[in-house]
Amino acid sequence: MELARFLHGTADSRTAGQTIGHARAYEAFGAVFFGGRRRRVYTRLAELAGARPGDRALDVGCGTGYLTLRLADAVTPTGRAVGVDPSAEVLAHARRSAADRRHCTFTDGIAEELPAGDGEFDVVASSLMVHHLPEDVRERAVAEMRRVLRPGGRLLLADFRPPTGQVARHLVGAVTGPVMEHNPVHLLRPLVEQAGFTEVRTGDLRPWIHYVQAVNPGPSA
Ligand SMILES: C[S@@+](CC[C@H](N)C(=O)[O-])C[C@H]1O[C@@H](n2cnc3c(N)ncnc32)[C@H](O)[C@@H]1O
Repeated sequence: MELARFLHGTADSRTAGQTIGHARAYEAFGAVFFGGRRRRVYTRLAELAGARPGDRALDVGCGTGYLTLRLADAVTPTGRAVGVDPSAEVLAHARRSAADRRHCTFTDGIAEELPAGDGEFDVVASSLMVHHLPEDVRERAVAEMRRVLRPGGRLLLADFRPPTGQVARHLVGAVTGPVMEHNPVHLLRPLVEQAGFTEVRTGDLRPWIHYVQAVNPGPSA
């Protein structure tokens, strides 16, 4: 059985996206997948998101809350970090991990209908989530990220960048499934531009991450 199929949770009627069901297995997989670099990579993602002390930061598709905790570290002491995910299993795990952090909370919700008010956040970040959404939902999800960002607020989208070598890519496909093997990360940038974000920049982080940074210029027309 592919690892992806094992990790995925029960269907959620609110989203066509694939949720994660086995939180502990996902954590173990994450540690192996990043080859000992996970903490470094996610700390860097929080930096790239532009999270600063005092900011209100949202992590969309937070899973077990690994990035949410890094955002919480960056916005402390006066800011707050919120993780959103539709999977009850990962949210329970995330809440346990953040039990001693009062400024880090987790909420049930989906990217395409975020449980947040207009302009409520200074920073919106999302890692390894977009590939879980069917293509026709991605536009809606990024529009929601813009809606909940204040004018001048910063976006960071990060997702899996498949290896360029054929053998390594097939290996990824065999372990994690075809979605990750063929993940079209180059489409993240146009997705963000079409949603009306400005100052769009892209980059890669070893071993597997492609990211897009952008700024919300203000309310959409
Ligand atoms: C591969 S995990 C990534 C988790 C975490 N961001 C990380 O980097 O470790 C993808 C997450 O997206 C969540 N997800 C799936 N569909 C979603 C949706 N429609 N809205 C928000 N999150 C969703 C899954 O439940 C899962 O926790």
